[in-house]
Amino acid sequence: MLKIQGVHTFYGQIEALKGVDLEIKQGEIVTLIGANGAGKSTLLMTVFGKPKARHGRILYEGRDLTRVPTHEIVRLGIAQSPEGRRIFARMTVFENLQMGALCTDGSTFDEDVRMVFDLFPRLEERRTQRGGTLSGGEQQMLAIGRALMSKPRLLLLDEPSLGLAPLVVRQIFDIIKKINQAGVTVFLVEQNAFHALKLAHRGYVMVNGVITMSGTGKELLDNPEIRAAYLEGGHA
Ligand SMILES: Nc1ncnc2c1ncn2[C@@H]1O[C@H](COP(=O)(O)OP(=O)(O)OP(=O)(O)O)[C@@H](O)[C@H]1O
Ligand SMILES: [Mg+2]
Repeated sequence: MLKIQGVHTFYGQIEALKGVDLEIKQGEIVTLIGANGAGKSTLLMTVFGKPKARHGRILYEGRDLTRVPTHEIVRLGIAQSPEGRRIFARMTVFENLQMGALCTDGSTFDEDVRMVFDLFPRLEERRTQRGGTLSGGEQQMLAIGRALMSKPRLLLLDEPSLGLAPLVVRQIFDIIKKINQAGVTVFLVEQNAFHALKLAHRGYVMVNGVITMSGTGKELLDNPEIRAAYLEGGHA
């Protein structure tokens, strides 16, 4: 579904991605793990063309996204919940969801809101509350819900568990699994390697802008190097 081939991305002179190859098949949950500054968020943003890849190709269902303007990428069925959530703080929960549906024709808006509220009953209870006053976990739910309003076939999630208590992290990961079971392919960037690898069909490890390892979630979880670098003490 998504093939990233030899992608290099720069911020000015700094080369953040140094030739990344990665593939996501339809129906999968694929996770990308790696330390702070490895280039994980840069890769997700490069899929959306902000920043643009300087070299390489990003093929989505055979079409090269590096030639497609960002606003059209959403229409192709890709949505993202960015790092730090970036919900609209002064808008209500409901208005945030409306923003997520802007690129659709609106004909299924009511059903789509229903689907989001069924996944996140908490958002329905808080539909008139302003985004900025939601708790961290609720904001994360809203960021994912807003992304779902564009009815994506591929959902990109950047660190959905960041800063959340263990119980809420588990809820969010359960919901990601449900979203995937409903037919949405998921690309999940995570610091929380334990939960991410347990959930994912396959995973990749990024170090300094390159992919250094890949395998099934279980293979990576069982790998001693991965355990030492990303899991020791990290999953208690
Ligand atoms: N807008 C920017 N301008 C310049 N350099 C940037 C910019 N954004 C990111 N970088 C640099 O690119 C590298 C990769 O950053 P990126 O945010 O992709 O890492 P990450 O793997 O998502 O890290 P984290 O886990 O901390 O979110 C870092 O060295 C970072 O400082
Ligand atoms: Mg990041």
